[in-house]
Amino acid sequence: MAKWSKVPVMDVTTPAANMNGSLNMGKKLPIAYSPEWMALQEHVKEVQQLHLKDLLLDEERTDSMIREHNGLYLDFSRQNMTDSTLQLLLNLAERSKLKTKMNAMFAGDHINATEDRAVLHTALRAPREARVMVDGEDVIPGVWEVLDKIKEFSDKVRSGEWTGVSGKPIKNVVAIGIGGSYLGPAFVHTALQFDEKCKAEAAGRKLRFLANVDPVDVAKALHELDPEVTLVVVISKTFTTTETMLNARTVRTWLTTELAQRGYKAKDAVAKHMVAVSTNLEAVSEFGIDPENAFGFWDWVGGRYSVTSAVGILPLSLQYGFDKMNDFLRGAHDLDVHFRDAPFECNLPVIMALISTWNSTFLGRSSVAVLPYCQALAKFPAHMQQVAMESLGKQVSLDGDPLSFKAGEIYFGEPGTNGQHSFYQLIHQGRVVPAEFIGTIKSQQSVYLRGEEVSNHDELMCNFFAQADALATGKSSEELREEGVPPFYVPHKTFSGNRPSSSLMLPGVNPYTVGQLLALYEARVAAQGFIWGINAFDQWGVELGKVLATRVRKSMSEARTTNRKIDVTDGYNPSTRKMINRYLNGKNQQLYPEPRDVFPCDLIHSEGCTAPYEDDDE
Ligand code: F6P
Repeated sequence: MAKWSKVPVMDVTTPAANMNGSLNMGKKLPIAYSPEWMALQEHVKEVQQLHLKDLLLDEERTDSMIREHNGLYLDFSRQNMTDSTLQLLLNLAERSKLKTKMNAMFAGDHINATEDRAVLHTALRAPREARVMVDGEDVIPGVWEVLDKIKEFSDKVRSGEWTGVSGKPIKNVVAIGIGGSYLGPAFVHTALQFDEKCKAEAAGRKLRFLANVDPVDVAKALHELDPEVTLVVVISKTFTTTETMLNARTVRTWLTTELAQRGYKAKDAVAKHMVAVSTNLEAVSEFGIDPENAFGFWDWVGGRYSVTSAVGILPLSLQYGFDKMNDFLRGAHDLDVHFRDAPFECNLPVIMALISTWNSTFLGRSSVAVLPYCQALAKFPAHMQQVAMESLGKQVSLDGDPLSFKAGEIYFGEPGTNGQHSFYQLIHQGRVVPAEFIGTIKSQQSVYLRGEEVSNHDELMCNFFAQADALATGKSSEELREEGVPPFYVPHKTFSGNRPSSSLMLPGVNPYTVGQLLALYEARVAAQGFIWGINAFDQWGVELGKVLATRVRKSMSEARTTNRKIDVTDGYNPSTRKMINRYLNGKNQQLYPEPRDVFPCDLIHSEGCTAPYEDDDE
């Protein structure tokens, strides 16, 4: 491995920063004006002369671009980088005070300045004996109090000691939540569903998620569930999220109506069939859920970083048992310790953050394709989409100064090999999209057919290895001509190559490695935010749409109950006014003079089920 010399970082404060007149005297120089940033900008020209097909022949370079940590193997030799690039990026990390910022995060400082909060999702998976102080108080006892409560409750439910209102044991769990209260838990559930041990633990049980406020999602989540054996977990950090609360009221109505028809009181039905996860225990109790059946967490856990709080641990423990989730927490903690303590040159999340910064800021690549060659990780790209894009899609620095560069990247992805038959055309011959291949050494399912050349998982992984090389080395027109390809086809069949990717291999997919993977990517996003000097922990960009929806909701309710159209006095622009009216026209069969419960008959078998809306023609 190459030796990393520590380059001293000068302390540069303003005058130069005032060049464009927009910065205050005395403020620290923005990272984009630092000599380290400029050195990287200069370095781009050098790297642009190089092609990965040549770089990849260098054994020493390859060795210097492989890192391992506790079973995780990261090869970034297919990045458009040299050893000098990495050194320059490490200098940038130092200039950005990455270490100091990481220490501040782990120490519980209020680094989320716009919300005046600490950022301590790492404390959620710290061992019982750890000590993590927030505002002078050790938070670890509280973390473990909730974990112990989850263990006790999930054991009771799984053993049948906790029953539904009719005395039948609970078999199904419906987790209602959106964003961070859905994507992470759904990713982990999908990852563990076919792990042999987890599968055995979950035998006979169903875990479903209800996120979208689309009533079709309600129908899907409740399809063929017997409310007598169903437990609903309402998950919302704030307990005010419109979609989640409407879904929670909808499912509460489903539960209470169905169970009332079987002779049970609504209050008893809610007490035995609804629990909550939230930081807002007052709102939980106002909703009608007994605070005894609520599992708390804290404002220092961001929604998208909350999988290892009760948000994920409660529904997943109900499905797989607490011990499995404890393994998951241990995996995440292992990576947290690595992130906190490993020197940057061999720190996996820091290196991944630096690579992303290089690709997006200096090479101008605006997206990241997350490509798990592993069906169990199918929902990982969607989870990462929120973690990365909600965290890093920012327009100003932590101080509120406009950024002179674009922060954040567009994350997307699908499992391989499905993606190969879909969007890979573009990443091979269209735009340059830095790719992150994620593969596993062992599969959760072993299939090897007699007579086949390789096992099914080998076949999957052959593609994992091949795709990264196809992107990197490409195929030149000379090669094609030599192969006798007719001239007309040569430009169509040429692959420019030199397209960057990193490859990450996990030993397998189990609770521990899923914890490692989750924490690896969380840490990488946090580190990238620190390097860019932005707040990776707030999300003001989601607010405006919510406010406008509130106004539309008011107009919609009025229009639907009084049968009036939207007019200019309502204040919408002509496009919105016309669209809403077009929608209302289409709905005019469904005038609701007063609000009432309307469920399709297959959801609620009430007596009046068919009559009032059988004629509705939607
Ligand atoms: O609207 C964005 C957001 O605030 C996310 O950050 C969060 O994960 C999601 O909504 C759900 O929020 P809650 O858990 O409070 O319902």
